[in-house]
Amino acid sequence: MSDARSFWVAGQAAVGERTFEVRHPYDGRLVASVSVPTPAQVDAAVSAARAVADEAAAMPAYARAEALHHVANRLAERSEEIARLITAENGKPVKWARGEVTRAISTFRWAAEEARRWSGDLQRLDTDPAAVGRIALTRRFPRGPVLAIAPFNFPLNLVAHKVAPAIAVGAPVIIKPAPKTPLSALVLGELLAETALPAGMWSVLPLPNEETAALVTDPRLPVVSFTGSGPVGWAIQKTVPHKHVTLELGGNAAAVVCPDWSSEADLDVAAGRIATFATYQAGQSCISVQRVIADRSIAGALAARVAAAVAAQRTGDPWDDSTDVGPLIDEAAAIRVQSWVDEAVAAGARVLTGGTRDGATVAPTVLVDVPADAKVSCEEVFGPVLVIEAVDGVDAAFARVNDSRYGLQAGVFTRDLQIAFRAHRELEVGGVVIGDVPSYRADQMPYGGVKESGVGREGVRYAMEDYTYERVLVLTGLPL
Ligand code: SIN
Repeated sequence: MSDARSFWVAGQAAVGERTFEVRHPYDGRLVASVSVPTPAQVDAAVSAARAVADEAAAMPAYARAEALHHVANRLAERSEEIARLITAENGKPVKWARGEVTRAISTFRWAAEEARRWSGDLQRLDTDPAAVGRIALTRRFPRGPVLAIAPFNFPLNLVAHKVAPAIAVGAPVIIKPAPKTPLSALVLGELLAETALPAGMWSVLPLPNEETAALVTDPRLPVVSFTGSGPVGWAIQKTVPHKHVTLELGGNAAAVVCPDWSSEADLDVAAGRIATFATYQAGQSCISVQRVIADRSIAGALAARVAAAVAAQRTGDPWDDSTDVGPLIDEAAAIRVQSWVDEAVAAGARVLTGGTRDGATVAPTVLVDVPADAKVSCEEVFGPVLVIEAVDGVDAAFARVNDSRYGLQAGVFTRDLQIAFRAHRELEVGGVVIGDVPSYRADQMPYGGVKESGVGREGVRYAMEDYTYERVLVLTGLPL
């Protein structure tokens, strides 16, 4: 028990009575044993969060901002160590892990800045003769303690996206990291423990998923922020319809390449970006490029370039700085992805590159002639697999993007302002990126989906809005 990683209950390190193992996805070696909180420790964390809620909501802005800046600075100081921890637990190539730490620093810095700006609105009410001398001051107040359930694919930054906005608005937060990747969240606990945040304001509880139901239904946690799979997310919403539930779920993100994006240089740029962001993190991002919808006039030339660029991605040991594509989170995930590729091929798809698996690593794969109802096209692959199709014109391209149960982000390669504005208006997604892949995300941007991709928004200020509600103060008899 003594060498197991402790967890955090109300800001204090603690150990439970059981442990589970975290193994490196590339070679299965033991990375760490992690102690599991007991039901009594879980209850203590929730009670403490509830008890501190009023004090947390009343914390001055400077104190919230200082704590957030401290975490950002310490992440920067420990960045290489934490990047290597992300690689150890998640298997993503260390160059991508470094990028994740850089983003988490930005997420905390933005939260510190937004905490200082977080003020409210003033509205005149003397627009009506009956309300002369009246004015409304609207401020947002925390809904209450937040249950933050995080996924494995960004074990640091997607935890940061829940924790930092909660602290910024003064809401206590209970962090439930993914069981495959709890270590980054536990280290984040070390940094939070160095701040002056009140005890009870945060806990990190590495619980097995099956033991999370009691937290989800606990009335002391009125906000549930979940990032993960669709079935689990929608089941949470159904279980607690009276709670404020934010769901960041999956997608089958599309990149549209328009006829005006046609020079040799344009096609090279698009192919390079598509190849990188169809395969980064072995495709385990909700906005990795899964579908390329190219105008028929350039589709052949583009497909050849994309296939070459994808084939050039280096698979291998994630510790090697030159590795582009590492393993999936485990072999079971790789087997599932491979079976979807095989299913598409059996239905008539052609493999331009890839199509094989070695343990937990799936070779970066490009498919064409894929039937529209094949899983690799219409479900979320969450693997390094890309489907390219040709369409005739922008109308058809946009119709294909929208012909999906999901709607997270879309990329549109065009320089035509008319098409860009049409895309913004017509694409049924939470974000449209012009001139780049759908995978572009800046951490201060609103991020979230429509349709089965989820409800609510993250992106620091947008999560702050999500965790709070407006309360209006009407002042009367004023000399306005
Ligand atoms: C996600 O997989 O939803 C997060 C993508 C990102 O933060 O880049």
